[in-house]
Amino acid sequence: MCIKVPKVHGEKAIISAKKLKIVNRELEIQRDKDFIYIPLVRQPDIKEIEILKEQIPDCEVSAYTFPERKKKITTFVELLEDKLPPHLLAGLPRAIDFVGDIAIAEIPPELDVYKNVIGETILKTHKNVQTVLAKAGAISGTYRIRKFNIIAGEHKTETVHKEYDCKYYVDIAKVYFSPRLSYEHNRVASLVQEGETVVDLFAGVGPFAILIAKTHENVKVYAVDMNPHAIEFLKKNVRLNRVMEKVHPILGNARKVVKERLSGVADRVIMNLPEKAIDFVDVACEAMKPTGGIVHFYSFVDASSTLEDAKLRFVDAVEKSGRSVNKILFSRFVRATAPYEWQAVLDTKIY
Ligand SMILES: C[S@@+](CC[C@H](N)C(=O)[O-])C[C@H]1O[C@@H](n2cnc3c(N)ncnc32)[C@H](O)[C@@H]1O
Repeated sequence: MCIKVPKVHGEKAIISAKKLKIVNRELEIQRDKDFIYIPLVRQPDIKEIEILKEQIPDCEVSAYTFPERKKKITTFVELLEDKLPPHLLAGLPRAIDFVGDIAIAEIPPELDVYKNVIGETILKTHKNVQTVLAKAGAISGTYRIRKFNIIAGEHKTETVHKEYDCKYYVDIAKVYFSPRLSYEHNRVASLVQEGETVVDLFAGVGPFAILIAKTHENVKVYAVDMNPHAIEFLKKNVRLNRVMEKVHPILGNARKVVKERLSGVADRVIMNLPEKAIDFVDVACEAMKPTGGIVHFYSFVDASSTLEDAKLRFVDAVEKSGRSVNKILFSRFVRATAPYEWQAVLDTKIY
């Protein structure tokens, strides 16, 4: 059973048939030179035929033998086509973040009433996902965390995330973690040389520190964070990844920790606190060995500033701290963080 329509009316016919919920999604729509054939789950009733004819006068219901559909419906957008008004489909989150077995979606306000349907559909289409969270605000505060609403699945925000052969316990309601930084974690780790001492000033649950330790025989990494939950998870992650000899978690404000314990020790300093790193450039300089070393400096860049501005600000801050920038070795946009806002990184050599 199918609806047969001239090709020119194909799209209109598909939309109308979908609205009537008579399309058989197990079968593939067929086309020949002049017509398209839309597979149906049943014979439309008189009222439905009237509606179709109103839209597309030259459509007809006829018999047709369809081959089996090759591709199963897998995307959650496809599954939601029947459950959401068509004009709202465009607002569906396209990018879902996955942290361990938790999926995180950004649900726009106009889809809020559908959030549980969306959550259940994400669960259905992603077999490894146990919980679906909706972002409920921006990342904020000293600890750089955000609120979430649980919209489907298990009521939890804690999970184990895998990244580059490392495992991380993380509770995303209590600590910062972004799977979108995985490439950056690996990029920085791969630049570290054997024998280095690294100071990770804003370490979170340890994705730079632990990967560096895991991939090097002879390194010492001091991993500092002032969020007690982050340091608790970091300590667990150090044990989980068996890098106890190489990673040293320290709870505290980076400024105070460096002054009291890490002055002049570092060959490399990681400063992944984009909104505030500029205020800690003097701290990075103090942690650096007197002979100098590498700083990975993170910053936000928006439409009104450029990567060049970020470089100038960094160079100025280093000079004010009594050191000099020998070279900006590398710079790039790490990721978009908001409309017209990007996280950028500068790899710099200071002495
Ligand atoms: C953007 S997160 C980065 C975490 C980690 N580097 C990563 O890539 O996932 C910044 C971290 O800095 C910590 N933080 C903020 N201010 C700090 C300070 N003054 N001293 C130490 N840690 C701080 C926050 O608690 C947060 O965990």
